[in-house]
Amino acid sequence: MKNKITTKTNFVCQSCGFESPKWLGKCPSCGGWNTFVEERARADLRTSARAKGKGARDKGGASVKAVTLAEIDLDRQPRMMTGISEFDSCLGGGILPGSLILLGGDPGIGKSTLALQVMERIADSGKTVLYVSGEESLEQIKLRAQRLGAGSENLLLASLTDLDDILELTNKASPALLVVDSIQTMYWPQLESAPGSVGQVRECGAMLMRHSKEQAVATLLVGHVTKEGVIAGPRTLEHMVDTVLYMEGERHHSFRILRSVKNRFGSTNEIGVFEMRESGLAEVANPSEVFLSERNREVPGSAVVCALEGTRPVLVEIQALVSPTAFGTPQRNTTGLNHRRLSLLLAVLERRAGLSLGMQDVFVNIAGGLKIEEPAIDLGVAVAIASAFRNRPADPRAVFIGEVGLGGEIRSVSQTDRRVAEARKLGFTRVVCPAKGIERGSLGGMEPSTVSTISQALERAIV
Ligand code: TYD
Ligand code: MG
Repeated sequence: MKNKITTKTNFVCQSCGFESPKWLGKCPSCGGWNTFVEERARADLRTSARAKGKGARDKGGASVKAVTLAEIDLDRQPRMMTGISEFDSCLGGGILPGSLILLGGDPGIGKSTLALQVMERIADSGKTVLYVSGEESLEQIKLRAQRLGAGSENLLLASLTDLDDILELTNKASPALLVVDSIQTMYWPQLESAPGSVGQVRECGAMLMRHSKEQAVATLLVGHVTKEGVIAGPRTLEHMVDTVLYMEGERHHSFRILRSVKNRFGSTNEIGVFEMRESGLAEVANPSEVFLSERNREVPGSAVVCALEGTRPVLVEIQALVSPTAFGTPQRNTTGLNHRRLSLLLAVLERRAGLSLGMQDVFVNIAGGLKIEEPAIDLGVAVAIASAFRNRPADPRAVFIGEVGLGGEIRSVSQTDRRVAEARKLGFTRVVCPAKGIERGSLGGMEPSTVSTISQALERAIV
């Protein structure tokens, strides 16, 4: 049927999803340049889909009704455990049937590898799983599977990119878990824009969500992230899905951190730590031990802190290097740490502790490739910088816990006890932290060094 409706189009920003009836050079929402692409308007799509009888709902029926809490049956299927405990705990205890999970990360970080490993475990437990790849051929997937030692009969594979085919196949195979790798390669033919555009990603995501809820199929969508750390296009998906997992890590390090940034069925900011090996991703059960394994205790500029990642305390080493600026403006470089936070700490060290860092280059790294936002590591960062500046090592037996305020005061942080307990487990004998928040009973033989200002802390920490 030739419909009379003229096709309406919109211009959509490909980095944030902002829509405009006109083409714009600069996106007013995210500030991106040259990001607008013409796409068919969504309202237009809906009318034409309804005209074709697709997606139209019978509004006159009694299917729409509200229920009371008591009427809701909680007797749901149990969560699917993969047995990869770093992954399970990141999700808050396995995959919930019917949930939609977005797994994001840079290309080549290990998303497909993790997805395949998770699927193999679930397939091993007797459930059917379906892996749809739009990026690799079946042969390539087989090669990867062989490397990972996967070969379950319940693991079904397909190399497809048309969403209608995927939904049809899923209805036929009715898997317990569907993996779509990646959402940027999928397209819905009704929409005229190219795969990977915001319109396609959003529409495919919405259709897969509807499908996963209706059929109670757990669905894992793999998405690539842009350099800026935003899932390209699929940013709009973040609101839609139940869980967002990010895979982080430096390409040149073997550690991979899986982080839950959104979870409707568990706590967020949980992390799982993996190591990329020849045979796939291996779990790292005790990350603190690994992150500290290469530490050189005697070198100036090193301090150990305890960050809380979700509910998990992790010890990491902060490394700092301070050297006189050769020419021009001093450099400030960070890896794993917020740049602004470093500037703030440098200013506090300068003004409240009398360190003249104005003509010094300062480099700060979090060893092992972890990214930490928490202000609880402030004290450790400040101590590492001061130790590097004075060229004297910080106490290697000590862990530093505390936030640094603008007045040079050391502030207490949440859950000091859990952090102290982790430090004790790893053989640290001294904790430098503010007096508030620490309970004597929880120290268990550790020597507390309570400090209230930054200069006091430097005095006690640097030997
Ligand atoms: P991959 O899962 O393809 O990344 P993504 O899907 O996120 O793009 O991982 C690719 C990298 O992982 C590649 O550089 C090779 C490495 N790798 C291993 O080191 N060991 C393995 O067993 C596998 C399968 C991959
Ligand atoms: Mg991949």
